[in-house]
Amino acid sequence: MSSIGMLISYENSKEGEEFLQFFHRENLGHDECVKAYDDKKIVKAYHGLKDVMKYEAPGILANMLAGLIPDLTNAKILDLAAGSGIIGKALYDRGFRNIDAHDGAAAMVDFCRTTGHYNGFHTCFVGNGDKLTMEDDTYDSIACSGATLRNHLPASAQSEIARVIKPGGFFVNAYRANLYETEVEYANEWREEAERLEKEGKWILYGVLKYPRFIKETAGRIDIYQIL
Ligand SMILES: C[S@@+](CC[C@H](N)C(=O)[O-])C[C@H]1O[C@@H](n2cnc3c(N)ncnc32)[C@H](O)[C@@H]1O
Repeated sequence: MSSIGMLISYENSKEGEEFLQFFHRENLGHDECVKAYDDKKIVKAYHGLKDVMKYEAPGILANMLAGLIPDLTNAKILDLAAGSGIIGKALYDRGFRNIDAHDGAAAMVDFCRTTGHYNGFHTCFVGNGDKLTMEDDTYDSIACSGATLRNHLPASAQSEIARVIKPGGFFVNAYRANLYETEVEYANEWREEAERLEKEGKWILYGVLKYPRFIKETAGRIDIYQIL
């Protein structure tokens, strides 16, 4: 698997796009995807891509959450599917000081331990029957970016996300705006499950922000759910 890491020279965004494509190609599956991320060289390669790929979502997501939360210093935030901690850094830079990191890949969580932006660390896959290890109502909000796509968070992860956020808290979730055209089956499952949770009275769709650049020239969206 580490051969994919060797492909990356960080010199141009085409290589970056190929690298990212590897993780959401058809038929990879959830287990193989997280296993592929669980490699020190891959973590380094992934982390190195943020500049060449012009990853703008983190700053926008952090600003969005800061606008929803009154006490940035004390609000307990989970960076879900944190990867190499890019979102944690954006949250920290925006003033948040009580952030936990979560990821299914231990190598990603280990990297997050080195950044100085997080207080707590959780390594577990979420979805398809696997639960987050945290108690109900643990977080004031959850931020997530770049994990709502095929092979990553299954639609069923959403009930776990809703479970660990306190009533009144928010789930802010950033992903590519074209998901509903490029990964239709996955996107529909994701939306149907979100709507089911809304009908069950677990959360409400508080708003959707669309913005021009998630990554490079690809537009992004942030779905905001408020827990009931
Ligand atoms: C593309 S990276 C995004 C990382 C980070 N949020 C960012 O914006 O840079 C996706 C991360 O999600 C993690 N991941 C994907 N599906 C997961 C799941 N179901 N449970 C836990 N972690 C998952 C992967 O291990 C990987 O580190």
